[in-house]
Amino acid sequence: MDTAEFRALAVEDLTEEQAAAELAALAAEIAGHDLAYHQQDAPAISDADYDALRRRNGAIEARFPGLKREDSPSERVGAPAAGGFRKVRHAVAMLSLGNVFDDAEVAEFMARIRRFLSLAADAPLAILAEPKIDGLSASLRYEGGELVLAATRGDGTEGEDVTANVRTIADVPEHLPADAPDVLEVRGEVYMTRHDFRALNERRLAAGEPVFANPRNSAAGSLRQLDPRITADRPLRFFGYSWGETSATFADTQWEARQKLGRWGFPLNEPTALCDDVASLLAHYHRIMAERADLAYEIDGVVYKVDRLDWQQRLGFVSRAPRWAVAHKFPAEQAETRLNRILIQVGRTGALTPVADLEPVTVGGVVVSRATLHNEDEIRRKDIRERDIVRIQRAGDVIPQVIAVVADRRPPDSAEYRFPDHCPECGSLAIREEGEVVRRCTGGLICPAQAVERLRHFVSRDAFDIEGLGDKHIRAFHAEGLIREPADIFRLEDRDGTTAPRLAEREGWGERSAANLFRAIADRRRIALDRFIYALGIRQVGQATAKLLARHYGSLAGWRAAMVAAADRQGEAFADLVGIDQIGPSVADDLTGFFAEPHNLTVMDALQAVLTVDDLVEDGSGDRPLAGKTIVFTGTLEGMSRPEAKARAEALGAKVAGSVSKKTDYVVVGADAGSKATKARELGLTVLSEADWLSMLANA
Ligand code: IVH
Repeated sequence: MDTAEFRALAVEDLTEEQAAAELAALAAEIAGHDLAYHQQDAPAISDADYDALRRRNGAIEARFPGLKREDSPSERVGAPAAGGFRKVRHAVAMLSLGNVFDDAEVAEFMARIRRFLSLAADAPLAILAEPKIDGLSASLRYEGGELVLAATRGDGTEGEDVTANVRTIADVPEHLPADAPDVLEVRGEVYMTRHDFRALNERRLAAGEPVFANPRNSAAGSLRQLDPRITADRPLRFFGYSWGETSATFADTQWEARQKLGRWGFPLNEPTALCDDVASLLAHYHRIMAERADLAYEIDGVVYKVDRLDWQQRLGFVSRAPRWAVAHKFPAEQAETRLNRILIQVGRTGALTPVADLEPVTVGGVVVSRATLHNEDEIRRKDIRERDIVRIQRAGDVIPQVIAVVADRRPPDSAEYRFPDHCPECGSLAIREEGEVVRRCTGGLICPAQAVERLRHFVSRDAFDIEGLGDKHIRAFHAEGLIREPADIFRLEDRDGTTAPRLAEREGWGERSAANLFRAIADRRRIALDRFIYALGIRQVGQATAKLLARHYGSLAGWRAAMVAAADRQGEAFADLVGIDQIGPSVADDLTGFFAEPHNLTVMDALQAVLTVDDLVEDGSGDRPLAGKTIVFTGTLEGMSRPEAKARAEALGAKVAGSVSKKTDYVVVGADAGSKATKARELGLTVLSEADWLSMLANA
């Protein structure tokens, strides 16, 4: 038999001899692909085919553990020498959680769920409450009961393949019992106990290595080691609390799913409780908070999850977080320290932001030397002065904040702080528009700080994600004129050596790092429309808004033309823009303002000349029955709350609008509908009753 013939055999059907030959062939083949992908940057097969090869290798090894080779691909991650882990796309996105901080917000979370599901105030609503562990999330994929892939969360859509490393974690089962679904992605947290963290740091200190700031950083640093032998030496652990893709449903409730995960060998975080109202949630929250210091690992709050999985399904997601779950965070940790100086940073839109330069102090396990002061008014309101002793606080990953001044420790000669009225970077006048809290530098194009910040934003992870082009480099390239505007980044390789020594000959660089940078840049000559929009750094246009715009307009040309046309506030293009759910007049003004600036159009022309911006192709939009349709709900629906109706329509690809126009495709009319229903009939639109709407959903 040759390779192709036994490749066609199912793993269960292989003889031992065939399996050995197949493992040898797979090892060679995968190593070849790794090389092509990582070092030659020329993948020979698709990611999916590559994954299939690795999975087959893993499955054969699981069936014949004795045949595992020394050069087994499951022991290696990509080709470390060229840097980085292989990227993997998550079959089901890995989401984050919204946060609540006080009792009222917990009550609002519950009330919102009841409204969405149209539950009566006294209808039972069970919520599971469990500790929120401070580690990093991972997705473990099992096929046929075997661990075949482990990935970090990454940006939620795409993570990194850390399979070899995760295999070294004793808490993670290699095999699942027969009653587990054939395909099952178990999600949970990789973490380190406090004790292990301290012991690891002692070892590192003794070896003259830098220590980790906290257990979370040390878990993250240990998991993302290119050499799995290093990870194996680090005491990592795992808790399972959720799941991604599954080939079969295995529970009706979160509670039952948890029990199953436990039975299949995954450690579970405790203490957990099933609660049925706000009071019992809060009681459990306080219980966990009281036990917090005694837990072996760090937690930063309590996660509440709607127990019924069918309800979770109905509740769905808003942007990147589920409606059916929320994290109730513990109060922030505080400390006192001296504020040495107030620094003014200039952002990419010219905003002057005050930052406190602090005497370093440890807050909640992390050394803090900077804290945000928000804005001019905050400084005045709190009367914060240089050299004051201040109380600061830090909550989770949030930037530390200055809470208050310790009044009785103020130096006698201190003076009220005066916020600068000129840009500290370029000297231009800094002005505060009527009604704005922010003071902005008016230097625009001549302000180097703004230009550098725009470039930093452009290459940042959620924008063009150009690895190896750090702050320091951008500042230097900008100062010497090598990169003045975003398009220059893509001309860097051609212009290398024309203004100063070649990159490869500079201090801190070499042939290899220069080549890596040029390759990272070349990799991004093709970019998705939403990333492109976000990268432009238009005020108020974050990732979520960029996605909305990309989805609505579909192509760069379409979007650009519409934004130019939307300058006319009375025109259709403007109405269309503000008709997009979640885009209001203020964002619309920032968008049209950006396009009214001739320089910005020049910057875009230059970019369009060097880039390919892909149109947004919606995943499976072909089979989303309401894709491209606009729908308006009016009146009261009996069977479904308004938020749920909207979410269902959007899930089917529709845009939900607030007002009826001739562009509306469907108007769903509930009880007591008013003028919108009348207008829909006048315009001759398709009017649906609630029953029509429900049967549309049933048939979708
Ligand atoms: S559930 C769709 N449960 O917190 C919801 N997450 O801030 C999936 N986390 O990305 C998350 N403990 O890494 C869930 N008991 C717990 C958790 C937990 C920690 C992490 C997780 C998530 C992050 C969101």
